[in-house]
Amino acid sequence: MIEEFLAGDGLAKVGQAVRQASADEVMPRFRQLETHEIAEKRGPYDLVTVADREAERHLGRTLTALLPGLVLVGEEGVSEDPALLDEINGDAPVWIVDPVDGTWYFAHGEPGFAMMVALAHHGELLASWTYAPVRDVMAVAARGRGAWAEGVRLTGGTRTPGADITVATSSPRWTTDTEQRRLLELEVPGVARRDTGSAGLEYLRIASGELDAVAYTWENAWDHAAGLLLVAEAGGGNATVAGEPFRIGGGNELPFVAARDEETLRLLLGLLNGQS
Ligand code: IPD
Ligand code: CA
Ligand code: CA
Repeated sequence: MIEEFLAGDGLAKVGQAVRQASADEVMPRFRQLETHEIAEKRGPYDLVTVADREAERHLGRTLTALLPGLVLVGEEGVSEDPALLDEINGDAPVWIVDPVDGTWYFAHGEPGFAMMVALAHHGELLASWTYAPVRDVMAVAARGRGAWAEGVRLTGGTRTPGADITVATSSPRWTTDTEQRRLLELEVPGVARRDTGSAGLEYLRIASGELDAVAYTWENAWDHAAGLLLVAEAGGGNATVAGEPFRIGGGNELPFVAARDEETLRLLLGLLNGQS
């Protein structure tokens, strides 16, 4: 059923559902939020807004109508019911949804936020949608078929030999594990590091050849599922610090790295391991 859906017009239909959720629930609230429509979750950098909640509900309705029988694992749903996360390792296929990625930016009226949906079964990523609402750019990946943004094939390409490796990493603002922080804050010759923006947009930058890699210290499926497939289908790869492929169902050894090509991935893993 899923194969037929994706081989037919499923990719376009899900893209349309994401655009509609943006048009109905997200963009009308951009720079229009009232203070009472923004709340802190774990702290001042972990926010949720009425747009996050309503966009996830909206996607819940439209995605369920497109493919009945799937479970929706969304960031805000998991926040209310943490057991929902186990569904990623369950028998039913799942939609993995981050209704607004980069909520801090969205809530502060800055355009660097995204919306992400991934379709997965038994921990395998089958398709993904990464949408940048302000630019109105939709990037789509389908397992084994490639990645596109607005109909143009994406390829991460390769780094200029000898050039610094540009890496977006977990911001110390968001990272609570002191050992991982120490690792990511070390100065490493040949690596140009900066704090990550919206994770979804960073993955899109890698898949577009604008960024070499990301290194992250947290494994929430909704932050990474869509982007990891996008990067993989654009010719890149990912691995945990232990050298294993990242598992969206959790239990990864962290940090993990995603990069535009195998060579960059190998170099970064070596650096991470050499420092630890
Ligand atoms: C966050 C963003 C942010 C990253 C955080 C994520 P959210 O997602 O991707 O850039 O650094 O760690 O949690 O909470 O805005 O969906
Ligand atoms: Ca997110
Ligand atoms: Ca979010």
